Amino acid sequence: MRVENPRVLAAFTDLGVEHCPGERLADWTSLGVGGPTDILVIHEPRHMPELVRLLDAEGLPRRFLGGGSNLLVREGELRWVLLHLSDKEARPKFHGNCVRVAAAADLGRTVTECAKHNLGGVEGLIGVPGSVGGALRMNAGAYGIEISHFVKSVELYRAATRTIETLPSAAIGFHYRHTSFAAGDIMISAELELPEKPYEEIRAAIKVCNEKRRASQPLNEKSAGCIFKNPPGASAGKMIDELGLKGHRLGGAVVSERHANFFVNRFQATAEDLLGLIGFVRERVRQAFGYNLEEEVIVWAD
Ligand code: EPU
Repeated sequence: MRVENPRVLAAFTDLGVEHCPGERLADWTSLGVGGPTDILVIHEPRHMPELVRLLDAEGLPRRFLGGGSNLLVREGELRWVLLHLSDKEARPKFHGNCVRVAAAADLGRTVTECAKHNLGGVEGLIGVPGSVGGALRMNAGAYGIEISHFVKSVELYRAATRTIETLPSAAIGFHYRHTSFAAGDIMISAELELPEKPYEEIRAAIKVCNEKRRASQPLNEKSAGCIFKNPPGASAGKMIDELGLKGHRLGGAVVSERHANFFVNRFQATAEDLLGLIGFVRERVRQAFGYNLEEEVIVWAD
């Protein structure tokens, strides 16, 4: 979707929006697939309501692009412009046990910044790729913790009210890799409350998590993390592994030999290759184990 109207482009500038025309999603996502569209980089989130009003008035459909680390996007020109928050001003602000962090901030960097201020608890999230906003929306978790355990409040643009609001944690439904945020909601920042811990202790815990992750996940290849959610009481990776599907290839997409729930883009995969592999593996698991695996990766394929 291209924006060419000079009046609209001028309005973007007034709203603190940087217009990046014809960006390939393959360059913005960790899986490295996806076609082109215009990306609107937002430098002043407070103007979000006006920006959304402008896009609606111009009939420009939109989606929000976060860190791109959990996203599978189809090929060809996309039907939406993509909003993306700039991370230029994304340094966390500390006060006591609390930290205010921009949604655009890198999650891993946030964990290490907190460690330097003797705030821990979130060590397990260290290797989770992507932004704080993406982690909030998906309720990212690893090694026994979820980001929701530490959220005090979230500031967001709410599609329902078309305003910027701050929701206390109690007003948000946080579940396993799922939250009550609506599709059009856009995270802006969050207030986290973290337990105090000595820096050396946090550093040691971070090291353990990094080592576990390096040993069990294909960190050097293009992926979107785990492709499927774990069904209650079962492990998607273990089931796919037991079916002998590690190394199974469809076009350029391969089931990782290191972790069977990671599908990697090894040979210039297309979105179709990855979607085909997802369908194939889901069907094999359904036949063998009776589970209908649900995707964890967000798919923009229509
Ligand atoms: N397993 C296998 N073969 C495999 C992969 C796993 O037998 O190829 C076995 C493991 O040996 C273990 C069990 O399956 O007994 C679970 O594996 P693992 O500890 O790797 O955890 P997981 O359930 O596969 C979850 C999250 C990961 C997170 C890890 C670590 C989901 C879908 N995945 O993986 O999150 O990093 O725990 O806490 O919940 C992600 O969300 O994208 C993600 C990677």
